[in-house]
Amino acid sequence: MQNGEKQKQILVLLGSPRKKGNSTTLAQQITKGAESAGAKVETIYLNGLNIKPCQGCYACKKKDSKGCVVDDDMQSLYPKMIASDAWVIATPVYWFNMTAQTKIFMDRCFGLFDASFTVNPLYKKKIAIAMSYGDSDPFNSGCVNALRSFQDAFRYVGAKIVGMVYGSAEEPGEIASNTELLEQAEALGKKLARS
Ligand SMILES: Cc1cc2nc3c(=O)[nH]c(=O)nc-3n(C[C@H](O)[C@H](O)[C@H](O)COP(=O)(O)O)c2cc1C
Repeated sequence: MQNGEKQKQILVLLGSPRKKGNSTTLAQQITKGAESAGAKVETIYLNGLNIKPCQGCYACKKKDSKGCVVDDDMQSLYPKMIASDAWVIATPVYWFNMTAQTKIFMDRCFGLFDASFTVNPLYKKKIAIAMSYGDSDPFNSGCVNALRSFQDAFRYVGAKIVGMVYGSAEEPGEIASNTELLEQAEALGKKLARS
């Protein structure tokens, strides 16, 4: 962080139910890099929150709406999502895509926008993605499906994906032996903090 520069606020969203899982390890490396570059990081374990799926009521799109009306833990998460400069989304591949916890979170982002997307707190938000999968190949594993979903969603709302790190691992902690990937994740954290 340069003198006089505002400290970057980064929100890390963990989409795995495993607290010490591989995607979390990657998120921790991103955090390490971001903190070393002066950013302030808060980590959210989505699986530990009460987050209901979007109910499709469109209350968030009505005139003079105050946003999502679903009364759950998203209500305390929304202000953090809005206030942060950047998000890190970490998820394993479950059945050829992101986990259900992550997808529910993504759907509930709909509540951040008004009907015309003029109210758009994701515009120019910086995003980093971290993913792990059991297969040896990002295509066969379904990792690419999730990456594509993130690309489509964040492009649609004008957010900027700063980088993606992903790799193969099965058992919790296994990804820690992939030192090259861990270095990439740490570098992504630094990039995110400086972007
Ligand atoms: C329900 C379930 C579904 C999975 N589906 C896939 C899959 O479609 N493709 C794949 O490569 N790995 C799959 N895996 C393996 C996980 O992606 C892999 O173990 C990953 O490293 C777990 O990350 P985590 O430790 O962060 O939870 C699946 C695992 C579970 C439990």
